[in-house]
Amino acid sequence: MGDKGSEKSNTVKVAVLVSGGGTNLQAMIDQHAAGKLPSCEFCAVISSKKDAYALTRAKAAGIKAYTVDKKSCAGQKDFEDKITDILKKTRAEVIVLAGFMCILSEEFVKAYPERIINVHPALIPSFCGKGYYGLKVHEEALKYGVKVTGATVHFVNEIPDGGRIIEQKAVRVHEGDTPEKLQKRVMRQAEWKILPAALEKVCREIAERRN
Ligand code: GAR
Repeated sequence: MGDKGSEKSNTVKVAVLVSGGGTNLQAMIDQHAAGKLPSCEFCAVISSKKDAYALTRAKAAGIKAYTVDKKSCAGQKDFEDKITDILKKTRAEVIVLAGFMCILSEEFVKAYPERIINVHPALIPSFCGKGYYGLKVHEEALKYGVKVTGATVHFVNEIPDGGRIIEQKAVRVHEGDTPEKLQKRVMRQAEWKILPAALEKVCREIAERRN
């Protein structure tokens, strides 16, 4: 990945993979604009859905936006080949899954060891793995009756939500919470904070190792 690396040796090129609203993408864009992600340089936003609002957010921030519509691809390999082409073209060095609702194959993931990071809306190892994504995670947390949930940022490996944890933050469940209310609180209090912070940490370490 990033065959020649980043042009500026103190920054690392980051591609963000999305599928929906992109509030986590927005949190990273805002932190970057505020000068809090000095080791990151966004080189691409890639959406698996052509109507994802995250694409509008990317364009508004001046980041190159691409769609690889999963439904129009011939299969998983075709989908991943198209994503890989963009990653190579934009010389991405780190990939962030920010509300990316597609599973990546073992082959894809193994090509980027400890270079793909994901935000998950629960405290792993609770409410995670295959089938746990988006609102479903909060529905299950409420059904179980946990009093504390939260968010996790982790490296992606071949096990769904199974890679090394980078950062976690706990969030209280309130009496009368709905999945939607809980999702918003987890985003506001945890995801939008720990994802940009974890990204900066990963990029800073890569930049330091390079120099
Ligand atoms: C976020 O809550 C994110 O943690 C979750 O989807 C939402 C996307 O929101 N991701 C997963 O569940 C992945 N397993 P966003 O598009 O507004 O960032």
